[in-house]
Amino acid sequence: MTEILQLGDPRLRQHSEVVPASDFGSAELQAQVEHLIDTMRQANGAGLAAPQIGLMRRICVVEVTKNPRYPYKQPIPLTVFINPKITVLDETPIEVFEGCLSVAGWRGRVQRACRVQVIAQDVEGTPFQVEAEGLAAGTLQHELDHLDGQLFVDLLVNAKSLTTWANYERYHRSDWEREAEKINERFPNGLERLPIND
Ligand code: NI
Repeated sequence: MTEILQLGDPRLRQHSEVVPASDFGSAELQAQVEHLIDTMRQANGAGLAAPQIGLMRRICVVEVTKNPRYPYKQPIPLTVFINPKITVLDETPIEVFEGCLSVAGWRGRVQRACRVQVIAQDVEGTPFQVEAEGLAAGTLQHELDHLDGQLFVDLLVNAKSLTTWANYERYHRSDWEREAEKINERFPNGLERLPIND
């Protein structure tokens, strides 16, 4: 199983490189993306960014089915983002109790914009766009932050919200899952893939 880099590894703090046009459609890029997807699934991640496995390129993947780490998250179809650009459509904050495969064993509360648009390329280089709201918007912001060396622990609304996973389960999970249900009611659309308008 591929090692997922952990907090303190300097590579998690670097800006990743743009994937050049000449790489699209190559077997190498396809293999890198498949490896990222496999690693995310093996670790039960809701998403994974390439620098988390030491690949310093602007690639991330998200997928939420039924996730034991995040049972309250709405489903997100597998989506591969290469060279993504994010635009905040509504900066109204939502507070999210996040975790990260690179901050293993810890969770904490951060604020995220409630609605975002992401334009990216797929593995063939074809541009596409998604709009996401609520928890799905938070997931995208979290994954794209990795490409610029930012981790959720940088964004804690209050350092005192940091908790071990075991104490999250014990003391915080039931409150947060009620809050998450309310966020899902306010933002029922999750992630939507839209035609690109240029
Ligand atoms: Ni993460």
